[in-house]
Amino acid sequence: MRHFLTLKDFSKDEILEMITLAQKIKSQTKQRKFVPYMEHQTLGMIFEKSSTRTRVSFETGIYQLGGVGLFLSSNDIQLGRGEPMKDTARVISRMVDMVMIRTFEQEKLEEFAKFSKVPVINGLTDSYHPVQLMTDYLTMIECRKDKNPVVAYIGDGNNMTHSWLMLAAKLGFELRIATPQGYECDIDIILEAMEMAKESGAKITFGNDPKEAVKDCDVVTTDTWVSMGQEDEKEERMKAFDGYIVDETLMSIAKDDAIFLHCLPAYRGYEVSEETFEKHAEVIFSEAENRLHAQKGIMVWLDAKRDEKLEIRN
Ligand code: CP
Ligand code: NVA
Repeated sequence: MRHFLTLKDFSKDEILEMITLAQKIKSQTKQRKFVPYMEHQTLGMIFEKSSTRTRVSFETGIYQLGGVGLFLSSNDIQLGRGEPMKDTARVISRMVDMVMIRTFEQEKLEEFAKFSKVPVINGLTDSYHPVQLMTDYLTMIECRKDKNPVVAYIGDGNNMTHSWLMLAAKLGFELRIATPQGYECDIDIILEAMEMAKESGAKITFGNDPKEAVKDCDVVTTDTWVSMGQEDEKEERMKAFDGYIVDETLMSIAKDDAIFLHCLPAYRGYEVSEETFEKHAEVIFSEAENRLHAQKGIMVWLDAKRDEKLEIRN
């Protein structure tokens, strides 16, 4: 049995297998062909943070695969009143077939996975957002034919940036990260990624200059300057990120046909200008739709890795 907790747990081939599966299921879905790869299965979806895309895409995705999604907000289940993660895992995983969790610390997710009898998927933690990166990769290869795209990430060194690091390090493409001083990526995650990059040949650079990062790149991406849980830091972050907006001036330094990706929700006038956002809206909302398709690929892949499901669950 495999969990989907961070991209570092997968080989390049495994990541590409999930993407290929996602492309196949996406094409079937577009023909209104709903193959019940996960018939009668239940996906438990635990949310300790808000969500629009993650909730709707997982719930719709499992339904289209022939199963059902259970939305479990921590406000409504005993987890929110202090029942330990490990007990929650031992209860829920005896009843459902797969679990997706959105929580704070990566360690909480790992604790759940350790005690779970069924595969667990990271639906975002403070450290990583790997399902979003599978989606972004799917979108990137649909929109650009480059074998080795150069990606520039501008903004906060957060869960999205960490996942970009892991994806680039695994797949071997060039990633340039520009963050303000004091908002760099986690040093341990950087070191892990750089170690993996040696094997894949990925070129990963870090700096504080957005212009230098986007020069002639194929893909520009960013994320909110204030992630969930950081609301108290909003004022100081706004000052620190001054000059890091992705706007038309910055985009003009990238390749003429560069695409802009945003995991959403977007805060116009902060990390991205209204003009740049609307100019790239078609790709951004295709990226949002791809959450549905990429996650189906991940769920079906994880399900297929369980050879003897009954034995595992006994
Ligand atoms: N991108 C993303 O994960 O969106 P939600 O927070 O709406 O799920
Ligand atoms: N970095 C953001 C991503 C939202 C999808 C957050 O954690 O809030």
